[in-house]
Amino acid sequence: MQDKFLWGSATASYQCEGAWDEGGKGLSMWDVFSHESPLNINHVTGDVASDHYHRYEEDFAMMEAGRQNSYRFSLSWPRILPEGTGEVNRAGLDFYHAMIDSMIAHGLEPNLTLYHWDLPQALQEKGGWENIETACAYAEFAKVCFREFGGKVKIWVTINEPKYSLFSMYAAGNYPPNVKDGQRLLVACYNTMLASALAAIAFRTFENIGQIGVVSDYDPVYGVDDSPETKRAMRLADHLFNNWVTDTAMKGWFPQELLDELAKTYDLGFIKEEHGELFRRGVLDFLGINYYSRAYVRPYVDGASMLASNNTGKKGENLDDDGDIKRIMVVKGMFEKIMDPDGEFTDWDFEVYPEGMYLTLVELREKYGDIPIYITENGLGQREEPENGEIRDDLRVKFLDAHIRELLRAKDEGVNVRGYYVWSTFDLYSWVNGYDKRYGLVYVDFDNGNERIPKESFHWYRDFIARYEEEQR
Ligand code: BG6
Repeated sequence: MQDKFLWGSATASYQCEGAWDEGGKGLSMWDVFSHESPLNINHVTGDVASDHYHRYEEDFAMMEAGRQNSYRFSLSWPRILPEGTGEVNRAGLDFYHAMIDSMIAHGLEPNLTLYHWDLPQALQEKGGWENIETACAYAEFAKVCFREFGGKVKIWVTINEPKYSLFSMYAAGNYPPNVKDGQRLLVACYNTMLASALAAIAFRTFENIGQIGVVSDYDPVYGVDDSPETKRAMRLADHLFNNWVTDTAMKGWFPQELLDELAKTYDLGFIKEEHGELFRRGVLDFLGINYYSRAYVRPYVDGASMLASNNTGKKGENLDDDGDIKRIMVVKGMFEKIMDPDGEFTDWDFEVYPEGMYLTLVELREKYGDIPIYITENGLGQREEPENGEIRDDLRVKFLDAHIRELLRAKDEGVNVRGYYVWSTFDLYSWVNGYDKRYGLVYVDFDNGNERIPKESFHWYRDFIARYEEEQR
């Protein structure tokens, strides 16, 4: 693995490529959702997105000028396998070869995610992640990619954010297939982690192609008090937010306490003993962590399980009001995730909590020892408009500065953190939020030919990296 600390930024295929029907690409479930679903409440699509498909060269030149040395990106599965399985689309592979060659030429170490949510529609129509066949199809797709790109790419990620994506798909119901059903959620979670393990097993059959990890959106859990009830709620929340992904990735099985708790309500018959061996063999080399916020929890009080989603940027949208307390998530019998009344929140109800970055890193070392960790995403989403041709995003600068400090604090204390990626490289499609919620270091003028304008944060990040590297010399 590389010695140099990686300072980069990240994107995902559906969110930035555009070219939704070019180069032989098949449909993804997001193409269909964004074109057809009434639940696509902001009525925009990723058809063009940031037009990265046609402009990656310019984007990489910009990153190089910004002194970044790594790019985290994902592959569009239906661009490579239009039907999800079967025939490979040579034009799709050629596109990614050219893109990877270009990033390397611009001094950017590729950090490749195989799957960042744009499931082939053909597989979604057969049940998507609820169908165990999708896990097998995914492993086949992974093998195609290892074979093709293994000579160029050394950092691989199986799946981006199993928890956030599947909870949105099957609990909040705001992502396709727009379901709210705990039983179906659990099956999809299981199959997704099995898919990740199968890819890791396949990876080991190739030589000299680097290391493979999973990316988890990790929410360090804080409690409202020190009572035994709150401690139990915190433990269960930690399992449900974090450990079912990270334990499975690092130890090869799900947390038993969580399984016991879930078995009180759900049918866990989909867990098969014969898969145990696959999970054990599919342990990964590193963890990628997307850190945005923490989970502030209290014991379960009342009501049905629920998960709120805010895709409008109207503060408090869809939250559940329980007297003075606003509830973001309720898991019946287990815990409630609430808003800290004294917390600082974005318009989309993400709490800004830099110290959680430090806790995440030290907690992971406590749980799994000296494993390599990358912070694969961290960033701030907000509305922005240029003023006199400039974007003065000083809130983002403050956000990044505070979070990177917490990362370096953990690193100084010996946590094996090897890289940091800002989300996102440039403005892109923020899923159901559309284009209003901007995360980029570079502004994209979506209404005027997707012109790029580096923001104040881009310059700040460039200078920060330069100073850091100078100090390391
Ligand atoms: C992560 C995802 O959940 O956070 C990204 O990996 C996503 O794809 C980012 O865009 C920010 O979330 P959102 O919903 O604000 O776009």
